[in-house]
Amino acid sequence: MTDNARSRAWFRMAAVYFAVAVALGITMGASGDHSLLTVHAHINLLGWVSMSLFGFLGLAYPAITTGRLATWQFWLHNVGVPMMLLGLAAQLKGVPGVDPVLGIGTIAVGLGVALFTWLVLTRITARPS
Ligand code: HEM
Ligand code: HEM
Repeated sequence: MTDNARSRAWFRMAAVYFAVAVALGITMGASGDHSLLTVHAHINLLGWVSMSLFGFLGLAYPAITTGRLATWQFWLHNVGVPMMLLGLAAQLKGVPGVDPVLGIGTIAVGLGVALFTWLVLTRITARPS
């Protein structure tokens, strides 16, 4: 596998989300307040798990990490996920007026996932062995 700057960026982001999610999980466990369960789950799954997979898939198939579409996919996910999860945390805690943040973040994540799917379906091809 060749080194890839985009994959390195994904791995760094994934590690940060992992630390934040586990810190929240430990806080939830210790306090008995599980009201942010969905935030904890999605920090882990959209952050730690999905970003690690983006990183590994980029190492296996660098073609999905290059060019304008891949840059859009990177930023839609990296802007959308924190917007969605901070918006969700605020909504679950009863902060008023945060629905647009949650909505726009969720749409950004959805568009990023659609782009990722497109990149995988169109750019993963058999490599010469
Ligand atoms: C030290 C690490 C962790 C702690 C202390 C922790 C703690 C918790 C707690 C207290 C809950 C709420 C359980 C409930 O109310 O039913 C929870 C739920 C959850 N956690 Fe974690 N967690 C940790 C790591 C992880 C990791 C690494 C992942 C995924 C990669 C993960 C994924 C989830 C999911 C998906 C749920 C929701 C489960 C459901 O739908 O009932 N957690 N966690
Ligand atoms: C934009 C992306 C996503 C949206 C909008 C979304 C939305 C939701 C919603 C509305 C729920 C129900 C929460 C509740 O009952 O209170 C949920 C639960 C869940 N989702 Fe997602 N999801 C997304 C991405 C993902 C991904 C990528 C994964 C896994 C890799 C995942 C795994 C789960 C799991 C395990 C649960 C059950 C635990 C919980 O209630 O939080 N989701 N999701």
